Amino acid sequence: MKQQIQREFSADPDRYYRVRLFEERGFERRACQKCGRFFWSSSERDFCPDDGPDAFSFIGSPPCPEKLDYVRAWERVRSFFEDNGHSAIGRYPVVCRWRDDLYFTIASIVDFQRVAGSSVSFEFPANPLVVPQTCLRFSDLGNVGLTGRHFSSFCMVGQHSMEKGGYWKDECVELDYRLLVEQLGIPGSEVTFVEDVWAGGGSFGPSLEYHVRGLEMGNAVFTEFSGQLGSHRPLEQRIIDMGAGLERFAWMTSGTPTAYDCSFGPVLGQMLREAGGAPEGLGRYYECVAKTLEGPGTLASKAEAAARAAGIERSSVVPVEDAYVVADHLRTLVFAIADGALPSNVGGGYNLRIILRRAIASMDRIGLRGMDWMVDSHIDYLAGTYPELDGARSDVKKILRVESERYDRSRERMSKVAARVRARQRPPTVDELVTMYESDGVTPHYLKKEGIIDEAPAEFYSRLEQIHQTSKRRRAEPPCGLEGVAETQLLYYGEDPPAFTARVLWASGGWAALDRTSFYPRGGGQEPDRGTLGGFAVSDVVKEGGVVLHKTEGGCPEPGAEVRCAIDEERRRDVTRNHTSTHIINASCRRVLGSWIWQHSAFKEADHARLDVTHHSHPTGGEIRAIEKEANRIISEAVPVEVRESSRGEAEKEHGFRIYQGGVVPVSRVRTVSVGKYDTEACGGTHVANTSQIGAIRITHTKRVQDGVVRIEFVSGRGAAEWDASVERRRAEREEQDRQRAQTDRRRSSERDEARREVPLMLEQILACRSGPCGDGAEVVPAGAGRLCIVVGHPEKTHEALGKKISARPLYSYCGITGSGAGGRVVTYAAKDSPLAADLIAREASAALGGSGGGDRGHARGGGPRG
Ligand code: SER
Repeated sequence: MKQQIQREFSADPDRYYRVRLFEERGFERRACQKCGRFFWSSSERDFCPDDGPDAFSFIGSPPCPEKLDYVRAWERVRSFFEDNGHSAIGRYPVVCRWRDDLYFTIASIVDFQRVAGSSVSFEFPANPLVVPQTCLRFSDLGNVGLTGRHFSSFCMVGQHSMEKGGYWKDECVELDYRLLVEQLGIPGSEVTFVEDVWAGGGSFGPSLEYHVRGLEMGNAVFTEFSGQLGSHRPLEQRIIDMGAGLERFAWMTSGTPTAYDCSFGPVLGQMLREAGGAPEGLGRYYECVAKTLEGPGTLASKAEAAARAAGIERSSVVPVEDAYVVADHLRTLVFAIADGALPSNVGGGYNLRIILRRAIASMDRIGLRGMDWMVDSHIDYLAGTYPELDGARSDVKKILRVESERYDRSRERMSKVAARVRARQRPPTVDELVTMYESDGVTPHYLKKEGIIDEAPAEFYSRLEQIHQTSKRRRAEPPCGLEGVAETQLLYYGEDPPAFTARVLWASGGWAALDRTSFYPRGGGQEPDRGTLGGFAVSDVVKEGGVVLHKTEGGCPEPGAEVRCAIDEERRRDVTRNHTSTHIINASCRRVLGSWIWQHSAFKEADHARLDVTHHSHPTGGEIRAIEKEANRIISEAVPVEVRESSRGEAEKEHGFRIYQGGVVPVSRVRTVSVGKYDTEACGGTHVANTSQIGAIRITHTKRVQDGVVRIEFVSGRGAAEWDASVERRRAEREEQDRQRAQTDRRRSSERDEARREVPLMLEQILACRSGPCGDGAEVVPAGAGRLCIVVGHPEKTHEALGKKISARPLYSYCGITGSGAGGRVVTYAAKDSPLAADLIAREASAALGGSGGGDRGHARGGGPRG
């Protein structure tokens, strides 16, 4: 499709590509004699830049008078655009929370695109503007370090203008040309513009890529259509979307062997020194790699050929590549973690985990120790351009430490897997590598380090990318069967009467739409209101587009009817308290745990609520108590909760992208809910007016629900009071159990003492007696050739001890009865040769007490209620 559009645009170059500069500076349109692509240049050229004879000749001999590193290159670019009427704005986060189709910001224009369904609109904080936008792209990971120009993150110089109030393509291309020629000193004859097309975020347009000596420096997109390529319509506002690679500007002016050498500041030099330094001829090596990169063959074979051409050993380049990988990957992690992303095995976090593990493998290979100093060095270098990084220093280090330790712990498992692979004696396939990474975290770089494979195949990363997608899955559009039904007037955002009358506009399948409603529909994790509608119970409420639908039970009123409605106020109050509590818990987590805390998802019912937040590990008991304490402190501070409506752009400007805790807000007017200075979120839910109305929050349970996500379950308001009461109840129950246990223990031990005291005395008296009473409750009764000794009224312990001792005497039987008003217990013993068996005595004695007993001949027990 892209080729077709490209052909269409190139078939009418005057309409799509010709700009004033080309006329003024004598640029002519040519077709590449090799690939046929159209390009514009002011010097004689037969080939497009990729195939030109001067490709990458700037390495070692830059066409500019002054070498600029990354930081200084940005200073130059910024001042140029500022001098030419642009506002320089700060970068947007690399974690793209304002779009539901991207995890990471992949281009500067993404900052301003707001996509809803198939339509796109633009939020420009200034016009025209320039932004140093850090972009994360993980599709070329296999090339990072090896090609000299691929990064996992790079700075896209974004030059953006809306035509109305700004400018269109003539001015854009002129500025870009002047930037290269006047500001950087590149001869105009070296600049080539290649015709292309760029599409993204639902809009697209023709573009002119500008190249110098085979290196694409930037891409000026003239965004004028929206929709999919092929079925497009003109945008209301035409947009200039020029994105240039800042690292490439630095590279072009410096002529270093790679773009890495001039982009990472002092940290790279130190890494290279520790890795043993870079070999002579590195520039020639990378020039050869760069020239052959687009051609056929594997990267490994191109690297070998380049080493031969440069007259160096390929092996001498490998440690240098490792240093580049570490520098690149850590810089990406610094930006991503500073912006609140966490390495994990899900969503965008997977990319961060894999680059961290790859960086660790490279560090191990070249003997680099400790990451903190590298993080500090990156941030020190970048803080002038991105001041926000400075404040994230300790959080970045902490997350890297936690994640590195986790990796260390998994190494044992990895070495077992590696041993299995080694035993197979054939290299693993890409599919096997993917499975090994997915199930055991074994990266190809680990296998390379273990000497099991020679190179990590580039397809490995693209295959993983396909599986995990840097892009989020788009949510399905809600079904629609309500054409023509007027939007519902939402009373819950206004006076919010608990009882109201309304007219039924539509009814079908047990669902009814009204002209107005106070019923809050399910949304943003808040469960819907319940109540009655025209006498029917309302069991569910949802919103489809602008229409609120009520599910009624046992029947449904007819369209046209006037109905009396009432919401369950108590339930609403409970849900509302839980909703504001969710915001408070979120803010408290952020304050206690760290800046990487974001809402992952949330659920608010009347009697319980939960908030899933992004966090690296399960919080400790102390941390959970601290979060609860902080939440209750915010409640006791009686903070007003303010709800405001503003344009999306204003809300973003005032509060930043933290407002998108609950995901993307696809409307141009945003409702923000602020809990004082603690938290501001874009939110459509119901909230208390002051935190004091919540009463209290209690965290009832926490668990790790997935890698990098922790669930916090809690109750508030009445729920918290009930929770406290149940905690109190459980505590009282436990106390009562403890008391009873102690009482029993005391009784047992006093019985034991008593038995120890009494038994020898009683034994003596009983054995001395032939017949009749003998001491405290004891009596001896002759029984045939033997004797039965009956003892009444002592504790069981005494009977047990006495019975055992007596039945050790020939011909003796023993019957002990413990009595109380509530029943009696019988304990019997009999000597082996006694004429009276213990079970017989137990049965009879128990029967006399109205119960039963049993055992064997030598020992039996029983009892009955008449004790
Ligand atoms: N969006 C275009 C690109 O990524 C130009 O900024 O190339």
